[in-house]
Amino acid sequence: MSIAAEPPIDPNRPSAARIADVFLGGTHNFASDRAVAARAIELLPDTPAIARANRAFLRRAVRYAAGRGIRQFLDLGAGIPSLHNVHEVARDLAPDARVLYVDIDPTAVLYARHLLAGDPAATVVHGDLLRPAALLDEPEVQELLDLDQPFAVLLSNVLHFLPDGPALDAALATYRETAAPGSVLAISHVTPSDHTELTERFTALYNGTDTPLTPRKPDEVERLFAGWRLVEPGLVYCPEWRPDPDDEPVSDPARFVTLGGVGEK
Ligand SMILES: C[S@@+](CC[C@H](N)C(=O)[O-])C[C@H]1O[C@@H](n2cnc3c(N)ncnc32)[C@H](O)[C@@H]1O
Repeated sequence: MSIAAEPPIDPNRPSAARIADVFLGGTHNFASDRAVAARAIELLPDTPAIARANRAFLRRAVRYAAGRGIRQFLDLGAGIPSLHNVHEVARDLAPDARVLYVDIDPTAVLYARHLLAGDPAATVVHGDLLRPAALLDEPEVQELLDLDQPFAVLLSNVLHFLPDGPALDAALATYRETAAPGSVLAISHVTPSDHTELTERFTALYNGTDTPLTPRKPDEVERLFAGWRLVEPGLVYCPEWRPDPDDEPVSDPARFVTLGGVGEK
């Protein structure tokens, strides 16, 4: 299903979804994506580890939400199916979990459709997370999700592709206002941290693609949680957010340049 005209896949234009797929060792990418990814890894050799740490954060946030009784997940900017897909993680704890994946990238939607074919409790829609009303009104979404019940809004490594402005503010306000009490918001987000020069070079690299980067400082990321109560430990570097007991301790969390946090309504 598609709530917006789905553009054709253009192998010559690098896309954020497919570049992320390269970082995660996936195979759903083209030479144009691999060229940007290679340059990113040149600038910041930790990039694949950072992408994996982000997926691990997402996994822990999903488990947290499932542990709070949440059975509905809205994964916005879900990307190409990869490590720890939300429906797999959620169902480990909650076999009745329902998951809506949303992405604006046709490659991500194509492979998610393929993965989810025949799954009545998980679906993917092609859409823009900045148009939540259109998204949430879709009959297929209404059928899958009961918006009167709490749900988890997952914004993992996506908001830094969206500039500040009224469209972002309004979209976040709609998700917040729609969410029933007990709902959860998880965000991971690239931050300049102490590595300002590196972030600038990284930003310049993405600014040459269709998906420019807007890294945000911690207080700016925190503002994205307006109206949600951040749960412990608050907004931290991804590996620091409720690590699993067997996770290796991280000596320099700032090198992960990605903040993660979970809010509750
Ligand atoms: C870096 S990937 C992150 C994928 C996944 N969430 C993760 O954490 O691994 C960012 C994804 O956000 C998607 N995206 C960017 N802007 C979007 C928008 N306005 N609406 C929906 N998806 C968007 C991109 O297509 C891409 O798949």
